[in-house]
Amino acid sequence: MRFHIMTLFPDMVISALSDSMIGRAREKGLIGIEAVNIRDFAFNKHNKVDDYTYGGGAGMLMQAEPVYLCYEDIIKRIRAMHPEETAEKKTRVIYLTPQGRVFDQKMAVELAAEEDLILLCGHYEGIDERVLEEIVTDNVSVGDYVLTGGEIPAMLIVDAVGRLIPGVLSNSESPQTESFGNGLLEYPQYSRPEVWHDRAVPQILLSGDHAKVDRWRFEQSLQRTNQRRPDLYEKYIKEHPENK
Ligand code: ADE
Repeated sequence: MRFHIMTLFPDMVISALSDSMIGRAREKGLIGIEAVNIRDFAFNKHNKVDDYTYGGGAGMLMQAEPVYLCYEDIIKRIRAMHPEETAEKKTRVIYLTPQGRVFDQKMAVELAAEEDLILLCGHYEGIDERVLEEIVTDNVSVGDYVLTGGEIPAMLIVDAVGRLIPGVLSNSESPQTESFGNGLLEYPQYSRPEVWHDRAVPQILLSGDHAKVDRWRFEQSLQRTNQRRPDLYEKYIKEHPENK
């Protein structure tokens, strides 16, 4: 899986994705991440990529041409490096915007099946609509709030999608048991010592009875989801009425 991030702040993106699990996965070659500077495709001598909006209004807009040239550069390289994978398929181009479909675990799983993903980070007041119409396949938001740019949302998506790529997590089972893996939040977990600040680990976890432990964990997941995310709980119970 290869991520291609179109951004005005490549250093910010690369430094955040060079550590921890995603950094290690990159080093091992399990995932590829490149940040391409849209400013390198500016067509004026000042490297300017923004301009005033037609019709007036506050703020500047990223212009269509540098964004398009940057996109073309990435697509050409993808096609040249992997002609067999990309011959018929259109590479998905995700524009990070508060106006998009809200990102969730289901979308992370869907995106993890792609060979290449292009993530387009906007800035200022946004990007000229015409280039968005021409290249974007998916508008994606990371939540109902407004950030200063698409970089943090892009990093979030690389993290959530990247960790689903086989070999990236050390424990290959975890994507199933963790929160959202089965539509529920994860159960509480405990490590040593057995008693900490007068709080004891639930006795059942020390029993060695795996069937009982599994049952307890499942009940905790249900309870926790009901308390913390009643919206998810309702959806789960509709699909699994036997667990009510
Ligand atoms: N850019 C600014 N705010 C955003 C959001 N909530 N999601 C995705 N991209 C954004």
